[in-house]
Amino acid sequence: MQQLILTRPDDWHLHLRDGTMMQSVLPDTARRFARAIVMPNLRPPVTGTEQALAYRARILAALPAGSKFEPLMTLYLTGNTTPQEIQRASQSGAIHAVKLYPAGATTNSDAGVTDIRKAYAALEEMQRCGMPLLVHGEVTDPAVDVFDREAVFIERVMIPLLRDLPQLRVVFEHITTRDAVQFVLSAPAHIAATITAHHLLYNRNAMFAGGLRPHHYCLPVLKREAHREALGRAAISGNPKFFLGSDSAPHEQRLKESACGCAGIYTAHAAIELYAEAFEQLNALDKLEGFASFHGADYYRLPRNTGKITLRKESWQVPVSQPFGEHRLVPLRAGENVGWKIVD
Ligand code: DOR
Ligand code: ZN
Repeated sequence: MQQLILTRPDDWHLHLRDGTMMQSVLPDTARRFARAIVMPNLRPPVTGTEQALAYRARILAALPAGSKFEPLMTLYLTGNTTPQEIQRASQSGAIHAVKLYPAGATTNSDAGVTDIRKAYAALEEMQRCGMPLLVHGEVTDPAVDVFDREAVFIERVMIPLLRDLPQLRVVFEHITTRDAVQFVLSAPAHIAATITAHHLLYNRNAMFAGGLRPHHYCLPVLKREAHREALGRAAISGNPKFFLGSDSAPHEQRLKESACGCAGIYTAHAAIELYAEAFEQLNALDKLEGFASFHGADYYRLPRNTGKITLRKESWQVPVSQPFGEHRLVPLRAGENVGWKIVD
């Protein structure tokens, strides 16, 4: 196949940051996707409806002229989130989900949830009004091996949570293991998952290829090959529980290339192209449109997009870095090639 025409996709998990950094990265997403679920882990985090609406207005103001891109906002769950705040968010029409960061699990998660039971009043209201909970599914217990944190989270947090709140709609974000795939498959229809392009394309060897590779470091961390293969099978299965969430997470170059480099892989510059590569490797390009353009919209109870995008099978070289506010960021595949190209 030399050309691929898809219903315009949506990105159901995206970090846009704020200010001039957001202005630099937003066009990459707006060129490819009609909508994106925008993560709330700013500093300070987006914990209230008013903050989320103000953030949304800043994103809309930063869009390239003529862009119809729609940011779908989220709230950052804390132990103090009230049921009233959930109601306000739900009634706003602009806030589509609430994000659970276990405190300390990842970038800007310090204000996250220390004990999920502290958030139960808010979660009960979410269950009542159908607001999805987006879960960063990793335990933070330092005694747990970093490669096991997702699997242990399923046992310690996810299973009890779904037992206590059986109707709560949950998206297990950026799943990285066979365990998570199995869990989602065996859970009821209102439990779904996003899968990133980088977890489909790389296993954990990519972090250590010839030396330490900070631009392949994200959380949840890349896993071993058998897990990558399980994610691929889920993504191409046609099962509507699985959909696209890039987790594109830009950081300044110097903050990644450091003695304590931060977690996050920037993929927005080639997001749908990288997914096309992953699906092509699996001989399943015919399954990309459902995964990228239909399943997420259906899960979020939003209309499917009507516009189209065209991808051409053509290799192009990714720049070694790109502007990020006053700084630079290093995108995935920097200086290397991507095998598909978006054509306007
Ligand atoms: O790698 C990651 N980067 N994982 C996350 O969960 C957060 C994200 C970020 O915000 O940089
Ligand atoms: Zn994320």
